[in-house]
Parts: sequence; C-alpha cells; structure tokens
Amino acid sequence: MPDHTFILNGRRVTVDVADDVRLLWVLRDRLGVTGPKYGCGLRVCRACTSHLNGAAFNPCSVPVKDIGPDDEVTTIEGLADTAGADLHPMQEAWLENDVAQCGYCQPGQIMAAVDLVRRAREEGREIADADLGAIRNVCRCGTYHRIRAAIQDGAARMA
Ligand code: FES
Ligand code: FES
Repeated sequence: MPDHTFILNGRRVTVDVADDVRLLWVLRDRLGVTGPKYGCGLRVCRACTSHLNGAAFNPCSVPVKDIGPDDEVTTIEGLADTAGADLHPMQEAWLENDVAQCGYCQPGQIMAAVDLVRRAREEGREIADADLGAIRNVCRCGTYHRIRAAIQDGAARMA
C-alpha cells in the first residue's frame, strides 16, 4: 500500500494505506484521532467536520490520496493550538453555554462554528442569523438553541 503524508494538528504524519480509503477512517482507525465522529459517511450529518488548510471540510468524503504532503488537517484535538491557548475561544463559549447533551455532534459543531466566523470575517462582516440558519450539522439531541447562543458568544471572544 502507498504511503500518504500530511500535517495533522501541527505534526507531520505518514500512514501506509490504500489510496481510496477516506480520510475519516485514516484519522480514526489508523491514527487514533477520534474527535471527528462518523455519522453518515456521505457529507450529510457533518459529525466529522474538521478543517483542511483552515476551512471546514468533511473527511468522510475525501479519499486520502487527495490530501497532499503540505496539506494541514486540523481536528477538534488541535483546534486550541491554532489559538495558542489551552482552549479555543469557541470551546470556552461552548462550555459557558453548557451546549453539549450526548456530545456526539459537538466536535463537528464547534469546527463548523469556527469556520463560519472565519468566513464572515474574510467578507469583512460579523455573523448574522442567516449564517446560523445555514449550518447543516445535525444534532440528534436538539441542542440548536444553545449552539446558536454559543456561536454568537464564541464569535465575540474571537474578536
Ligand atoms: S460522517 Fe461525515 S458528514 Fe456524516
Ligand atoms: S449533543 Fe447529542 S447529537 Fe448533538
């Protein structure tokens, strides 16, 4: 099987795995990084949401061969390091707002939230209700009200 090298949470990793294995299985089963959750495997539930070169993506739908040696994959495990702190401001907001219920969807929700704020700021604006309404991450426990409050709070902390 071929070697695949990329940067995972700031560290270069190499894994010997077939080209068509999707990145989520490489992360979870081969590299032991279990923050990104498996829900659908079809880019629908968004439980696996992580960042590729700083933008949200769904590793369940990306074959490992599409990730290059200089690509940076960040999972919830590495998010705080991107802020140079023990917790990312969005994670602090999540705790303050006591968002999680069972917790399964929450890593993906937080990664999507950080990306949402990042994209709005790139457009020179703050997040609006329409942005929050456009989030497609599924929460089976129905924590959506608290998620919305936490994203607003986290965005303020990221200022
Ligand atoms: S597991 Fe990746 S989007 Fe559902
Ligand atoms: S907290 Fe249970 S699925 Fe979202």
